[in-house]
Amino acid sequence: MSVFTELTGQGLDFLSSLFIFMVGLAVFFIILMFISDVSQTKDAIRRNYPVIGRFRYIFSTLGEFFRQYFFAMDREEMPFNRAEREWVNKSSRAIDNTMAFGSTKNISPAGTPLFINCPFPTLDEHATSSPSVMIGPYCREPYEANSVINISGMSYGALSKPAVRALSKGAKLAGCWMNTGEGGLSAHHLEGGCDIVLQIGTAKYGVRTADGKLDDNKLREIATLPQLKMFEIKMSQGAKPGKGGILPGVKVTSEIAKIRGIEEGKDSISPNRHPEISNIKELLDFVQHVREVTGKPTGFKVVIGSDGWLKSMCEEIQQCGIEYAPDFITVDSCDGGTGAAPMPLMDDVGLPIKESLPMVVDILSQYGLRERIKIIASGKLITPSGVAWALCSGADFITSARGFMFSLGCIQAMKCNKNTCPTGITTHDKNLQRGLNIEEKSVRVKNFAEKIHYGIGLIAHSCGVKHPRELSRQHCRIVQSDGKSTSLDALYPKPEVLEKYK
Ligand SMILES: Cc1cc2nc3c(=O)[nH]c(=O)nc-3n(C[C@H](O)[C@H](O)[C@H](O)COP(=O)(O)O)c2cc1C
Repeated sequence: MSVFTELTGQGLDFLSSLFIFMVGLAVFFIILMFISDVSQTKDAIRRNYPVIGRFRYIFSTLGEFFRQYFFAMDREEMPFNRAEREWVNKSSRAIDNTMAFGSTKNISPAGTPLFINCPFPTLDEHATSSPSVMIGPYCREPYEANSVINISGMSYGALSKPAVRALSKGAKLAGCWMNTGEGGLSAHHLEGGCDIVLQIGTAKYGVRTADGKLDDNKLREIATLPQLKMFEIKMSQGAKPGKGGILPGVKVTSEIAKIRGIEEGKDSISPNRHPEISNIKELLDFVQHVREVTGKPTGFKVVIGSDGWLKSMCEEIQQCGIEYAPDFITVDSCDGGTGAAPMPLMDDVGLPIKESLPMVVDILSQYGLRERIKIIASGKLITPSGVAWALCSGADFITSARGFMFSLGCIQAMKCNKNTCPTGITTHDKNLQRGLNIEEKSVRVKNFAEKIHYGIGLIAHSCGVKHPRELSRQHCRIVQSDGKSTSLDALYPKPEVLEKYK
């Protein structure tokens, strides 16, 4: 027998022994699982269907990943469907995002906005860019802001360091502002040189005294930075009205703890409202105080529930003088995003931006404050049609959080609360952050903002106006439950200014 035949024989013997050993091992583990399943009492499926019952959990875990690729239709997923995500993805990569053959969007569902094209669209040579809007005319340093779309508040903590750095650089390239979110200001926000809106959350991270009150000295010092353009007091956020920010302990690194003024590794939970703001007078006093200390435009962010308090606020402003008004109100939709929030608040509390934005615009108009108080709208406005609808409804600016996350490469893995974000955007795991190239992604942030402006320009020109800020309610119709559309103008007729405020 040749050496070769002998070696082959030995190899086959080894492989067959290995095979028998593996099968034996598998049978052994199945028996172990069987015993464990029938003897445990916590899980009925595993007790009634030992071993096989485990596949249910394996498949439902895998389903989370595979649905997105194989099973969900283009316009089906939540919170954002594939068509929307792909639009942002292609826009931010600056690849051709024209479509072929025809739209896959179902325009029948009630609530769908349709824009009213003009028989004589605006000629390209007559189109102009959107003018800037001045915020805070009574401040020592008003802010002249140009970009229609801006980056909504997301804290450093919820976001990773490279994500904040890429957004900061991208915002500078795009000429838009970046809101810090409630986690305070870090060097990473300032790095790119963009305009910054500092959010003051209920825990006052970054501008707090040891016992969690507003520290005027810190606020004054931060306000001297020329990049700091406005201050936003966070009353509530769409995803969790009535609940403070939640940053799980795994994400509270030593650097984040230092910036926020809290303990490393411990859950960072903000109070569920500003303890010093319990009524309209205190809200307006707080706004006025921040504005006086900083000299810069100050407003608040809120998700709307009822409208009565807004009317009372407007009356109070009219009594005290319009200088006393907040310089802006950010209206967040109840279906806004978050790093972490409880499901009952995320799913069921507050009004969607479709309802709350026209409501706020109309109340301010009735009380003669529409020009004085600028309106910033947010909530799933990540494509030109969403942004154009908000402009038609009366918003001055739009901010987006998740739109910009998609531009950074977010794949909607829904892991922002886990420190395991696979794209490095919402994790402090250095290995996962490696995938997020700051220079590359900052250009994508810029491209996304540019494509939004380009897209709303297309809609505006098709409607016969020169630039997107000229869009108004007459340019948009909303599909009703009977399938017919009604003009936004008719749904929300321009309110008369109340007699005593004319
Ligand atoms: C990861 C993440 C973190 C957020 N952090 C904050 C925050 O610190 N403060 C805040 O007011 N809103 C926060 N938000 C809400 C957004 O600013 C925004 O209001 C909301 O997501 C709606 O915009 P979008 O639909 O474009 O995401 C966060 C959202 C996300 C996704």
